[in-house]
Amino acid sequence: MSMDNDEAHIALLPGDGIGPEVLEAARIVLDATADRFARLIRYTEGLIGGAAIDATGSALPQETIDACRSADAVLLGAVGGPKWDDPSADVRPEQGLLGLRATLGVFANLRPVKPYPCLAHTSPLRAERIAGVDLVVVRELTGGIYFGEKRRETINDEAQAIDVCRYSTSEIERIVRVAGDLARTRRGRVTSIDKANVLETSRLWRSVTSRVMASEYPDVQLEHMLVDSCAMRLIQTPADFDVIVTENMFGDILTDEAAVLSGSIGLLPSASLGASAPGKRPVGLYEPIHGSAPSIAGKQMANPVGSILSAALLLRHSLGWESEAHAIESAVHRAIIDGVVTVDLAGPGVAARSTTDVARHVAELVAASDSPGAMSGAAAGSAASV
Ligand code: NAD
Ligand code: IPM
Ligand code: MN
Repeated sequence: MSMDNDEAHIALLPGDGIGPEVLEAARIVLDATADRFARLIRYTEGLIGGAAIDATGSALPQETIDACRSADAVLLGAVGGPKWDDPSADVRPEQGLLGLRATLGVFANLRPVKPYPCLAHTSPLRAERIAGVDLVVVRELTGGIYFGEKRRETINDEAQAIDVCRYSTSEIERIVRVAGDLARTRRGRVTSIDKANVLETSRLWRSVTSRVMASEYPDVQLEHMLVDSCAMRLIQTPADFDVIVTENMFGDILTDEAAVLSGSIGLLPSASLGASAPGKRPVGLYEPIHGSAPSIAGKQMANPVGSILSAALLLRHSLGWESEAHAIESAVHRAIIDGVVTVDLAGPGVAARSTTDVARHVAELVAASDSPGAMSGAAAGSAASV
């Protein structure tokens, strides 16, 4: 379909644990948004992860791949859980997610972190540390140690395990360009994270990043930082970051850490985007950054905001529905200001609401939102938007 069509087709992959609950919440909000803006959204549900293993023996059935490829975009809940955690198992839920990212070619994973000021008290960091934090991690998603050769060897009767970390120049170039383009729409700063004092892949990463940024983005300020130092700076001076670009595993680890700034990992969305090729439309993959949270699954305790904001990113990036995306982001912010939050964010004097209650409240706010694109008072300009 072309951008800004009135109709959309979304593949929904609930997965495991809290995945189905948070995805249902996102759907409640998407339906209200479609009604409010006179759009039509069609859904196809697919199996992935542990749920797919139980039903089909595969973590990513061909039927799911086909459903994703024929949709405009994919919205995913979470995969994994103790039931499938046996380290000697041949098939694991996480393989489904990694396989989907590779199949869709979504090499750029954008993870925005912009804490809501009214939630500063829910973070273990002091409020003055969090003030002004507005960063996006651009995580390389289809390369590195996640996708390198993996094997076991027995040498001198001892088991050894090998995970290869490999990056090609072109894989680095394309993700750096995503970061450079994004920085131009923001504060014009890119921090590239590596471990160039130890790893060969990081030394290539650093030299390619320097070259691409100097030749193609001379207007963007580039800084290199070692990953261990970044882990510290994210807690010490998080407001100094604008766009962070990094390889797959560093990005995974640093974004869970960055989630602490916002008050709950349940708040953070992500968008995974691929390259447009002539005649081939990229299918974006949208998912909250959290996992399946097995200990709270099925209890209506999961924070649905990361999933709802992922749906907003889907509308913006895959469909070009900016007003709709903005209406959702403003409604989420308003719901948080109203104190309609799940237990992870409920403080003294704020009663915890269920996952579905939060979704319904956000949906009602979207339904009651002003003319398309208009922002409501307190939420104006503050919603997390990438
Ligand atoms: P997790 O993100 O599931 O949970 C970490 C902590 O955050 C837990 O205390 C959990 O209760 C809490 N939490 C997570 N999401 C929340 C939400 N929406 N609302 C409130 N609290 C929330 O990470 P984990 O425990 O390390 O992993 C559990 C399983 O999830 C593993 O099998 C892992 O492989 C998988 N996982 C999947 C994804 C994904 O599907 N994208 C991401 C991360 C982990
Ligand atoms: C994430 C998750 C995944 C990752 C796992 C479940 C494969 O932690 O999306 O952050 O490591 O990429
Ligand atoms: Mn992760």
